[in-house]
Amino acid sequence: MTDDLAELRAETDAALAACADLRAWDVVRVSVLGRNGRLTALLKELGKTPAEQRRERGAALNRLKDALAEAIESRRIALEAAELETRLAAERLDPSLPPRPMPGGLIHPISRTMEEMAAIFGAMGFEIAEGPDVETDWHNFSALNIPAHHPARDDQDTFYLTAPAGAPPPVLRTHTSPVQIRTMLERPLPLRVIVPGRTYRADHDATHSPMFHQCEGLVIDRDITLAHLKGCLIDFLRAFFAAPNLPVRFRASYFPFTEPSMEVDIGWDRKSGELGKGSDWLEILGSGMVHPRVLANVGIDPRAWQGFAFGMGIERVTMLKHGIPDLRPFYESDIRWLRHYGFNPLAPAMLHEGA
Ligand code: PHE
Repeated sequence: MTDDLAELRAETDAALAACADLRAWDVVRVSVLGRNGRLTALLKELGKTPAEQRRERGAALNRLKDALAEAIESRRIALEAAELETRLAAERLDPSLPPRPMPGGLIHPISRTMEEMAAIFGAMGFEIAEGPDVETDWHNFSALNIPAHHPARDDQDTFYLTAPAGAPPPVLRTHTSPVQIRTMLERPLPLRVIVPGRTYRADHDATHSPMFHQCEGLVIDRDITLAHLKGCLIDFLRAFFAAPNLPVRFRASYFPFTEPSMEVDIGWDRKSGELGKGSDWLEILGSGMVHPRVLANVGIDPRAWQGFAFGMGIERVTMLKHGIPDLRPFYESDIRWLRHYGFNPLAPAMLHEGA
């Protein structure tokens, strides 16, 4: 190799070694192999070389070109690896870092009650069913045997939406009972479901909210009797209120979609608010045997299948169980109220601990 080629080689090696990053490396690459680079210039001058030296000079230049290209490429690989190394070191996570103290998120009492209901009824073989908040008139009223001029349909009580021309207006469901209809239409028999969900009525005071929650229950099977209804609800109420001897009373009542119908009361002391004590009764839920006409409305033969249904207010049983005096703070998202009445999310409702 002639002196000038050796010099180019040595200087390029030194320049490559001095590159701290890929940007500096690229400057070196262009200065050697680029259109105006030193090697390119030497190749261009080859034509001026005297003919007798040209062949040898050309071969030397080509060897140098290959060697330089290789040196430049391997420096690129090394620089890239180094940059990756630095980035990985900088971005490394230290999993041993202790967690920051968590702002204590808590489960809302309504959600907690729904979970407890799911746990208790789940153990009895019930599944969860759901339906839409905006219902058709048919699901919310007609299919449930509620006649056209029944007071429950009064627009004083019910939120009606705008109807498509000629059709009956949709409603915000006034109870979870329309999901009885949907479930019987959709699921195979026999069935056992509970339906926790939102319901709406045009009511607003210390004990009524225009939006509130109910939990419906529905059992359809062969040979279901009033005894099943009573056993199921007594067991539920005693488990839910964690009071094994809670007095439970069934009182004749009326709902268009059950026959016979019963209001269910539990024993309590009105003065102290204590459940299971004293000699007063408190109405907790509505229930009854599913009306044969309701079964017929969804195409179920009432001579082959019977069932019972019930519906209860979630806020009401929650207030009773936890001694919450006022309904309104349930929906105000006041963090102080939530801290006081909320539940630990890491300790979900589990039956073996007692609901
Ligand atoms: N839907 C009734 C209500 O909202 C409760 C109920 C449900 C009664 C099922 C009987 C059977 O008051």
